[in-house]
Amino acid sequence: MKRALITGVSGQDGYFLSKLLLAKDYKVFGMINGQSEDTSRKLNNELPEVIQIKGDLSDTSSLMSAISEAEPHEIYNLGAVSHVGISFTQPELTANVTGLGVLRLLEAIRNLKKQEQIRVYQASSSEIYGRVREVPQNELTPLHPRSPYGCAKSFAHHICVNYREAYGMYISCGILFNHESEKRGHEFVTRKISSGVARIKHNKQLKIKLGNIEAKRDWGYAGDYVLAMWLMLQQDKPDDFVIATGETHTVREFAEIAIKVAGLNGSVEEFIDIDPAFIRPSEVDILIGDSTKAKNVLGWQPQVKFDELVNLMVKNDLILEK
Ligand code: GDD
Repeated sequence: MKRALITGVSGQDGYFLSKLLLAKDYKVFGMINGQSEDTSRKLNNELPEVIQIKGDLSDTSSLMSAISEAEPHEIYNLGAVSHVGISFTQPELTANVTGLGVLRLLEAIRNLKKQEQIRVYQASSSEIYGRVREVPQNELTPLHPRSPYGCAKSFAHHICVNYREAYGMYISCGILFNHESEKRGHEFVTRKISSGVARIKHNKQLKIKLGNIEAKRDWGYAGDYVLAMWLMLQQDKPDDFVIATGETHTVREFAEIAIKVAGLNGSVEEFIDIDPAFIRPSEVDILIGDSTKAKNVLGWQPQVKFDELVNLMVKNDLILEK
């Protein structure tokens, strides 16, 4: 039986990846820092088959213990301070967990002399492209991050490539563009909108406060994207892959569709207020990924289209907010 260790298991991607690996008969170990009983309880309810292991990306000895306990064939590093906006107010924490945490994980594997036995998936992010140098972005597009989060993910990406080249480690980086679902955290814009319109529909809220609604993102469905993570670790050789839909839409467009799906009548301006508190000091204006390499090498393609994504998120929140 194959064993996998997932960091960041309590997040959206951790949920979908755990489901996928369990369906493939993996023994799945999920790393949590153990500080919150709520996280542990939530995991127990949603993913009772996942074995919880204590560990933290900011603590090397705990990483070594987690790896020794799980003895994984595959490690999926999904753990991070993942909110771009928050990274501006907590830049050191972001650099420490999202950036240096990856180095600690790779060093933990090396110190345990497990580099030959373990394959690593690193969650790289399209935020590393930042002020994009070309449209669409592919694996060779130069990096120009626009936030402490983007800078930390850029370091993490480069250190993975370096350890692959320097020590021959099997490390693959998935450069994932935005991916959403009914499990998305409420601090991200898509969920903020889907739950916001649902609350307005059920008379619990009057308006949604947002920042820059003209930003463009390439939004896919998280359930599709975790399959790409797994496929990357099944190849003969490690490599980097852009995972994206190849379509870009503004936050405004997401909101327009969400308003309609919720059965509300009116323009975006009637339901959304612009609040400067949500505008970032520097912004990524447009992201659109070219995942031709993933299609050719992994045979991966996104299934859920943009309209379907908005539909499923809003319909889910209409039920939850009822
Ligand atoms: N979160 C948030 N809240 N974003 C807002 C808001 C708001 O109220 N109003 C406008 N936005 C804009 C942001 O400025 C950004 O341009 C866009 O909506 C998307 O923001 P997020 O949903 O927070 O996602 P992100 O693109 O910054 O980052 C996500 O995707 C990355 C992959 O490209 C995160 O999941 C990252 O962890 C991930 O790496």
